[in-house]
This record gives sequence, C-alpha cells and structure tokens, in this order.
Amino acid sequence: MAFRNVTTSDRGAVRTLTVNRPDKLNALNRETIGELTLAFRQAAQDDAVRVVVLAGAGDKAFVAGADISEMTAWSPTRAQAASRAGQELMLTIERLGKPVLAKIQGYALGGGMELAMACHLRVASDRAKFGQPEIGLGLIPGFGGTQRLTRLAGRGAALELCLLGHQIDAARAERLGVVTRVVPADELDATVDGMADQLAAAAPLALKGILDAVIEGAECAIDQGLAFETQGFAIAFSTDDMREGTGAFLERRKPSFKGS
Ligand code: COA
Repeated sequence: MAFRNVTTSDRGAVRTLTVNRPDKLNALNRETIGELTLAFRQAAQDDAVRVVVLAGAGDKAFVAGADISEMTAWSPTRAQAASRAGQELMLTIERLGKPVLAKIQGYALGGGMELAMACHLRVASDRAKFGQPEIGLGLIPGFGGTQRLTRLAGRGAALELCLLGHQIDAARAERLGVVTRVVPADELDATVDGMADQLAAAAPLALKGILDAVIEGAECAIDQGLAFETQGFAIAFSTDDMREGTGAFLERRKPSFKGS
C-alpha cells in the first residue's frame, strides 16, 4: 500500500520506513501517525521482514515533533485522542516482536525523540540533536516521553529535559543511555546497514524472546520478569534455529538461521 507521508523500501530482510515530510522537518501530523502505525503492523505480519529501520527524509531532521500547526484548534478531547494515537504507534513499535533501529541524522525533538525512544536501538549522527521542548509550548510530552525517557535515562535526566526543554547533543544523549551509538555523519548509513544486516541474520525467535523479556519483563516485579525470561529460554529449545546455532558452534561453522 502506498502512503503519502511514509516511504517503504526493502533490502533483503531489512525494511526501511522513512517519514517523508522534509519541508516540515518530518513533523508527525495525524495522517503520518496513522500511516506509520499501519506500516509497522504490515512489517510485523510479513515473515520476510526481520528488522525495521526507521528514518527521517532529508538531512536536517529525523522528526522535529508532533505537528504543532494541527494542535491549535484541538479540544481537550481531541488532544486526548491524539495522545492515545501517538502512544499506540509507539507501543506498536516497541512490541513489534522484531528489532527496530532508529537512524537519527538531525533533530529528534518532542514526538521525534519519543518515536526514537520507542525503537529498540538508536544510532545517531554526531550532528543529531535531542530534546523534549513541549514545555516551551505550554505543553507536556504526550507520546510517552515522560515514561520512556525516565526508563531509559532515569528520573533526574527526564525531569531536566522535560522541565527545561533544552536541546542536547548526540554525545550527551549517548552518555544518558538515550542513544545506542554515535557516529560521524558520513558513517551513519553504513553503521545502520551493518547493524541491520547483523540483526537480519540472527535467529528471529531468539530476537523476539529477548525483546519480550527485556520490554515486558522490565515492567513486572522481578519474579514475573524472571518467569518471562525462563519462558523465552525454554521456547528457544523448540526451534530449529537453536539446534542450528549450537550445532554450528560445535562444528566451527557460521550458523544459518531460518526463523523456525
Ligand atoms: N510542527 C509543525 N511544523 C514544524 C515543526 C513541528 N513540530 N517543526 C518544524 N516545522 C516546520 C516549520 O514550521 C517550517 O515550516 P514552514 O517552512 O512552512 O514555515 C519548517 O518545518 C522548517 O522549520 P524551521 O523552524 O524554519 O527550521 P529551523 O532550522 O529554523 O528550526 C527547529 C528547526 C527544529 C529548531 C524548529 O523547527 C523547531 O523548534 N521545531 C519545533 C520543535 C518542537 O517544539 N517540537 C515539539 C512539538 S510538540
């Protein structure tokens, strides 16, 4: 299905979704949020897709936030629906069951930072800028930023960024644990491609087990989280890929995982 604001391309088992509104710094309007949600659901259902890369078009912004021009006429009820729709997109990404990698070349502000934080890995150019500037608009983050930033970087950093609303550079974002890796701008594409290829070659059911245990398990008490982990560990023993991985190690060859 063709979208107006999101482009889709496949390279082997790696699907790249690109938010494509560069003249508006890829701001997330209602239509774009709907298209992204659908595009991620399609990627989840397609067995040929093992990894998703999420990017922003142009060289200036990953995503510069929710679309402010749409907000001015919102009633509280409409704002509630918009917040829920944004949060639903972020949950769809976080619970996709396949690794999602954000490629961040420029601004990741407001909803853009929230979108990046819903992804499982974040690779940023050294020119990228992060922030939750909603306070400057008399607002608070509405797409999960208060929750995911607290979980990723701790309460101190979440309060600093949300209360003061200032931008931070990629190096600080990496120190805070918000970014997985920072690379020079001209190495961003190759670094993301390399990481995506590595994930595409890994055992998909084991990747899913890790995602479930870390993401769902972290929201539970430790006993429940450990039960999640044990369940995923045991399920791995029902897969051909586990036999392939352990067998290949013992035979000193490279494994070839099939997703079964
Ligand atoms: N919503 C709607 N439009 C946005 C936008 C947003 N979040 N961010 C940028 N744009 C639009 C601008 O209105 C402008 O459109 P125009 O050319 O039709 O006037 C275009 O994108 C380019 O942005 P501009 O502000 O001219 O670029 P800049 O280089 O001067 O500044 C930013 C870049 C990111 C610092 C600035 O655009 C900004 O502060 N954006 C809003 C960030 C924000 O508050 N996000 C949270 C929203 S809840």
